[in-house]
Amino acid sequence: MSQTILITGIGGGIGRAIFKSFLSSEYQVITSSRTEKTELDVDFNSLSEITHYQYDLTKEENVIQLFEQIKNKYNKLDVFINTIGGSLYSHKLEDFPLDEFREVLEVNLVSAFLLTKYAIQLMKNNKDNGGNIIHLVSSSAKKFSTNKAPYGIAKAGLARLIQYAAKESAIYDIRINGLSPTYVFTERHKSSIEKKVKEKDQSEEEILDHILESQLLKKPMLPEDLIPVIILLSKTKVITGQIYNCTLGEIINY
Ligand SMILES: NC(=O)c1ccc[n+]([C@@H]2O[C@H](COP(=O)([O-])OP(=O)(O)OC[C@H]3O[C@@H](n4cnc5c(N)ncnc54)[C@H](OP(=O)(O)O)[C@@H]3O)[C@@H](O)[C@H]2O)c1
Repeated sequence: MSQTILITGIGGGIGRAIFKSFLSSEYQVITSSRTEKTELDVDFNSLSEITHYQYDLTKEENVIQLFEQIKNKYNKLDVFINTIGGSLYSHKLEDFPLDEFREVLEVNLVSAFLLTKYAIQLMKNNKDNGGNIIHLVSSSAKKFSTNKAPYGIAKAGLARLIQYAAKESAIYDIRINGLSPTYVFTERHKSSIEKKVKEKDQSEEEILDHILESQLLKKPMLPEDLIPVIILLSKTKVITGQIYNCTLGEIINY
């Protein structure tokens, strides 16, 4: 049987690009999103074998159901790529409503915990082949983002989750890694730049220059640019517990 890959969050800019990169690959592709298959801006027709599940994966009962369905249909999982996340809200900490703080943690950290937990439970049956798990972290885990403290806190937690999970599941030969980008230009970012142009009375070039200021390579990072690292981490048998910075040369320390 060919290898199976699960990609979560394919409704998002990065998740969709990752999904597209695995079309017509050697994998049987399993996807999950809150969005129905028919509403996703993805051509499912040209595909070999794709199974799509519609779930909100911040809820444990949904995560359990997702993995039960994967077990029943494929009886295994080889690669899991999780792209669920987002900063969602912007406030100073002193003004951050608790329900919004909790939601940011649920979307970025709790869902990653649940998905990792049940992915390990399924992957550990792979015996000699183990498996690969990849999470999307963010440079916000280390660097300050104005009015986005809960996002940075959640992503820092995710980075530690990756390390603990890698340590504990090494016994099953499951490799768990992260990819940590700075600003990735998705459709959502394009509209937020257009909004800023109107609000701040700055040109698009000025806003772009500001975003690229601290990068060595002065070009925007696109979702597709992450794919080579994703491929590496989906195939590796020797890398685990690592978080790859994709920052176009920006050096980010605590
Ligand atoms: N774009 C960037 O600049 C950037 C930089 C660093 C790190 N990242 C990280 O990369 C990942 C993808 O980012 P993106 O730019 O593609 O973001 P996006 O377009 O906003 O997509 C985020 C994904 O998260 C899922 N999600 C969001 N809120 C959710 C909720 N309440 N419940 C369940 N799922 C929820 C969505 O899944 P569905 O709609 O498919 O259900 C969506 O696919 C995220 O983890 C993000 O933190 C992004």
